Order: sequence, then structure tokens, then C-alpha cells
Amino acid sequence: MCGIVGYIGHRDAFPIIINGLKRLEYRGYDSAGLALYNDKLILKKSKGKVKDLEQLFDNQAQKKGLIGLGHTRWATHGEPNDINAHPHVSNSGNLVIVHNGIIENYDSIKQTLLQRGYRFKSDTDTEVLINLIEDVMNNEQIGLGKAVQIALNQVVGAYAIVVFDRKNPEQIVMARLGSPLAIGIGKDEYFIASDATPFIEFTKNALYLEDEQMAIIQKGKDPQIRNIKDDKLVVPYIQELQLSLDQIEKGGYEHFMLKEIYEQPGVIRDTMRGRVLADQNLIKLSGIDNHLSKFLNAKRIIMIGAGTSWHAGLVGEYLFEELARVPVEVEYSSEFRYRNPIINENDIVIPVSQSGETADTLAAIKLAKQKNAFIYAICNVVGSSIPRESHSGTYTHAGPEIGVASTKAFTTQVMVMAMMALKLAKEKGTVSISEYNMYLSELENIPNKIEKTLESDLYIQQIAHHYKDAANALYLGRGFNFPVALEGALKLKEISYIHAEGYPAAEMKHGPIALIDENMPVVVIATKKGQYEKIISNIQEIKSRKGKIIAIVTEGDQQVKALADHVIEIPETLEAFTPFLATVPLQLLSYYIAVYRGCNVDQPRNLAKSVTVE
Ligand code: G6P
Repeated sequence: MCGIVGYIGHRDAFPIIINGLKRLEYRGYDSAGLALYNDKLILKKSKGKVKDLEQLFDNQAQKKGLIGLGHTRWATHGEPNDINAHPHVSNSGNLVIVHNGIIENYDSIKQTLLQRGYRFKSDTDTEVLINLIEDVMNNEQIGLGKAVQIALNQVVGAYAIVVFDRKNPEQIVMARLGSPLAIGIGKDEYFIASDATPFIEFTKNALYLEDEQMAIIQKGKDPQIRNIKDDKLVVPYIQELQLSLDQIEKGGYEHFMLKEIYEQPGVIRDTMRGRVLADQNLIKLSGIDNHLSKFLNAKRIIMIGAGTSWHAGLVGEYLFEELARVPVEVEYSSEFRYRNPIINENDIVIPVSQSGETADTLAAIKLAKQKNAFIYAICNVVGSSIPRESHSGTYTHAGPEIGVASTKAFTTQVMVMAMMALKLAKEKGTVSISEYNMYLSELENIPNKIEKTLESDLYIQQIAHHYKDAANALYLGRGFNFPVALEGALKLKEISYIHAEGYPAAEMKHGPIALIDENMPVVVIATKKGQYEKIISNIQEIKSRKGKIIAIVTEGDQQVKALADHVIEIPETLEAFTPFLATVPLQLLSYYIAVYRGCNVDQPRNLAKSVTVE
């Protein structure tokens, strides 16, 4: 995690870096720091948010400098305090570094450097790395670029690093292994960042470093890209960004999370655009079309992911099994990668990821590739590492998701899975033509039905106010809505810090029922389709133990209404598609509860959006 911003060019670096860091705060926000060079080095760091750092620059003179590096941190080594914050400086005071990732063998390198007389102010692995680079530079009497290349060959771990030498402030050197780095290319200026959002208003030309690559950029010269291993030059691939500034601003909403919840109808339309062609009874997904025989012959699909993306995978399991009749397993990437998984020929591995950078998912892909699996990614961020490491895939087109709690990424991931499952169902003949047409036309209705669901916003606010002081909450669902219950509970705990658990409704009797009393809110997804009668029995069981019931029901439902304390209606849809609608009120409920509790909704404590460390 951690966010990195750098600049070298003809403008003042300060506002570019500060604003860029604010856009990258989703990557971590324990502490922040900024170094500028203008005849002398100005370095300031602060525990807390970027705005705290900004306040440390209290006079204009300190904000001068045409080269600079900034960092917003999610602590790995050392507690989040001013000293451990980045940038870090080498012992000579010349080299400045920001780093995202972990250097695993930092301790042994540190011991060697200590013996050689180096001293360390912080507990970080990063300070060790910058002194290793300095040591190589001094020993070999070489320039910064070559020293970075040699030093990185001694390092085990994951990193995105950006370095400059204040004795040569015309040049910046950077490298990546496992953590992302983008270079924005302007006229006589370069921007460096963990993703392209910090420089989108300055240039649309971007270059993404690949793993094991480094770049040397110098004012007025073309970027030089090299392989870290053998120092060989690589031809740079510069691409035009599709991102726009309004996509990454709050657009009048109080929080990104609320904006992103409300964006769902629109972005789901984007996910389907040009793919769901109901008038031609067609689903066009080039990734599947190009590898159709692989999908038709697949004996098993293994979905891998983390957090919300793992929950989307669980919905996918129900969709693929129900529609396309192919067995699906859903695995946490972090477990999959370390347990010598059995992968057979004709298995398809589907990594699911919003950011495309989650370290465990990336490592799981690499492992599956070694075992000859076909990898088909479902991902949001175009050009990110996970799709690049995969053989093929489908982008979700949800646009930038900035709120740390994932919302629109989930529903668009599920939409991709629904399209894939339905397309395969048609190809395999596992649904009849009339069923296929029915599913297809209902898919097109989903965005409108989400719009309708969002109309319950005010009522959900009232429910949220009622339960804002709850200490615990239980979420129950069955079938397609069991993963929705898990996702609802995750949303609540991550942003409001209320302990919440999601369960398959029938499992309640095997434990969680012991927790139910008059203080326990129980959110039950009780839509008409599916095992409605069974869910009603579960609701009765909760009621007889005096639990408070918040039910998500199908429009017009009377039976649950008679039992529940609160009912939130969603439009009727096919059972397989209820997750699209049932998820939305749960997102709003946790959002408003967190707001009433005064929590930082977009940046919940201890979390980060893009988890690039394992
Ligand atoms: C973090 C984020 C979650 C996300 C998960 C997986 O925990 O806070 O919102 O679901 O990582 O991330 P990915 O980018 O792979 O979907």
C-alpha cells in the first residue's frame, strides 16, 4: 500500500505533490511526508493525514522547488510516527527515497551497513534500502541509476521506489517489483505516482512500469526504461489515459462512498455497454469469444480474491453453477497461494480484483500460471498488474473507486460474472432459449431497478439513526443472498467499527442465535424468490428471542412486514439477480450508521484500499 507522488519539471512541485497525495490517500493514511529540493533540501513529515503535512509548510519559501517526492503511508515496519514517515534520506543527506512495499531481508542488510558505519534514525526497511544504494554508489563510484539497479538485485521483497540525488536534481530514478508505478509524461516535465490520478489534469500520456523494471527520467530527455535484473534497455510503451478529472472528484456528494453507491446504475450500464445486446439476443465478451473452447471444456472454475472481491466471487459461484452448470470453487487468494492447490488441466482460474494490485491475488495468479492454469481476470483498473499477468479477462468499467469500502466495484464484478455465466449457459445449452432471453432482458433492467432501490435512501437513514449505537449486528441470507449478507456485514464493520457477522440464515441455529437478544439488530435478506418460507421461519426464530429485524424484502411483501421491525423494499427481479439490488440498501445502511457515529467513512482506520503487501 502507501501512495507515492513525484515531480520533476518547470512548475512548483509542491501543489502537484500535495494534491496528488490527497488523491492517493486511499492507499494509506497513517502518516505523510514531502521532500522538495531548491538549492537546499526541505523535508517535512507528519503522523496523520496529508492535510496535517500541508500545514507544516507555513511559508511560501518552503514550497519552492522544481523537483520533489511525496508519500502517504500505511505502516508496515515501525509505528506510524514522524520519524518512520517517508521520504527517508541517506546518511550523507544526499539521496532521498519514497517506498511502497516491504524489503524482507532488510535486517541482514542493516546489520552489514551498521558494521560499515551507517546509522539509522527510523525503524523502517526503506531507510536501510536508501543507505544500501548510497553504499553501492560510493563503493563503485557510479551514478544513481546503476547503483539502484545493483542494490535492488540484493533485495528480497516487494517495492515501488522513487529516488533522487540532491547533487543531481535534474534526474529521478524509480523501480518496481510488486507495487505499481505510473509515469506521466508532459512537455519537459515528468510526474510519477502510484496511479495516474495525481497527474490527470496535466497529461494523458502515461507509462506504467512493469515488474522488475526501473526508469531513469531526466528533464528534457526521453525516459530510459531498464530491466532491473540485467540492466538491458526496454522500449517504453506510452499509452493514452482514458481517465477524466470529474471521475475522481466528489461531484457534490459528502463522501466518495456515497457518490460511488449512487454511481452504480450508471457504471453497471457501462459494464454492459456494447456487451449485452438484448435486441440481438447476444452477449459479446471478446475475452470469452477468443477462448471459447477453453470455457466450454472447463471442468472447474476457481475464483480467487480478497475482501469484497472474494464476496463477489461467491455470488459468481452461484451464478456459474446455476446457469452454466460448471463447478466453481471460491478461494481467498492468500490461502490459495500457500497451500499447494490442486489445479487440473481444463481448470480456469478467475482472479477478481478492483485495484488489480492486491499482492496475494497477484501471487496466486503467478502460482496458478506455473501450474499451467488459464487465467481470466475480472478487474476494474485498466492496465493494472492483475490483468497484465492474466491470459485474458473482462474489465468491469466501474471508473475509479476511491472510498476504501468497496461498493460499485462489487456490483460491477457481479455484473461481469452474470454476463459470463449467461453467455456460457447459452453456448453450453444449459438454459433454454426462452430462459436465456428472460435472463438477458432482465439484466438490462437492473440499472433502473437499482435507481428505484436508491429511493429508499431517506428511510434507510432513519433506520441507521435507530441502530447507530449498536455494538453488534448479524446479517443473514440464503442462496444467492448469502454472500450479500457477508458483504453487508463487512461494509458495516469496516466503516462504522461495529462488530458484524454475515451467516447463511440456516446456520444461525448453529451458534449466532446465542447472541440474539433485544439489543441485537439482525439484517435479513428475505426476498420473495429463493427459500422464502425458510427465511420466514428464521425471522420467527429471531423474533421469539426479541432480536430487532431489519428485512430486505420484495416490493409489496406483506408476510415479512408483519414480523419485521423495519422493511426495506427492493424491486422484484429474478432470484439470480437479487444480489444487485439487495446489496445497495446494505451499503447505504452502513454508510449512514458510520456517518452518524462520526467515523471517517472514506478512510476507515487501519485500512487501505489497495493492499500491495501480503
Ligand atoms: C482491501 C479493500 C477492499 C477490497 C480488498 C480487495 O481490503 O479495502 O475494499 O475488497 O482489498 O481488493 P481488490 O482491489 O483486489 O478488489
